[in-house]
Amino acid sequence: MNKRFFVTILIGGALALSACNSGGVRRNPGKIYAPDMTYSRAYDAYTANPIFADSLTSQKPVDGTIARGHDLPYHLNETDTAAWYTMQSPYKFTEGEIAEGKRLYDIYCGVCHGQKLDGNGPLYNDGNGPFAAAPANFKGPNYINMTIGKMYYAVVYGKNMMGSYASQLNTKQRWQVLAYIKKFQSENGGAPFTLSADGKNTAPAAADSSAAAPAKDTAVAHK
Ligand code: HEC
Repeated sequence: MNKRFFVTILIGGALALSACNSGGVRRNPGKIYAPDMTYSRAYDAYTANPIFADSLTSQKPVDGTIARGHDLPYHLNETDTAAWYTMQSPYKFTEGEIAEGKRLYDIYCGVCHGQKLDGNGPLYNDGNGPFAAAPANFKGPNYINMTIGKMYYAVVYGKNMMGSYASQLNTKQRWQVLAYIKKFQSENGGAPFTLSADGKNTAPAAADSSAAAPAKDTAVAHK
């Protein structure tokens, strides 16, 4: 034990004690530089709010609201096929979106389904291409009036030899591609698909070959 040791203990102890004042009771609350930041002037998310009737600041979305990047206001499982098949696009189909749909179609679908949508793209090539399964011929009787919702389901989950395209195309792009297909079909013997002056698709989904779907006059009809 030398002198230096005791000096160190002494200084250390003094410093430690100086951290407490008057037996640990803080008398000075400190200065608040920007009180509006310390004490929120806005109603906090989970505090009572006198403005709303139910006094909650966090309000539920309005009924029927569709979250960004989602197709529907509620969740659908893969097995809910009836609901998928009758689904409509949450987007309005404008000419510009259909042009974008064609661009995406040519990138992601044309290799199999063909740039002429005849199910004979270069990968299939009348059975001589590397892809063995015959892609759907969108001009053919089985597909010409397929509901847009059923097509959407195939893009999301795939169909037999066709894989899912959900990771390549976001929800909006999927509908753009399908709007392009539907428009093309309407010009090649399919049910009408016209764009009205306000850009709304007046007949997005015609009857499936199996069941007659009621004509919808807007692009947003989920319930
Ligand atoms: C690798 C080839 C390939 C690509 C790429 C491809 N498909 Fe397919 N698709 C197929 C085949 C094969 C079938 C027929 C599946 C069956 O009925 O057995 C099919 C069927 C379909 C059907 C009919 C689904 C049904 O319920 O019968 C739709 C709609 C469709 N494809 C849309 C698309 C769209 C949109 C794209 C682009 C995003 C795409 N496909 C890309 C191979 C492909």
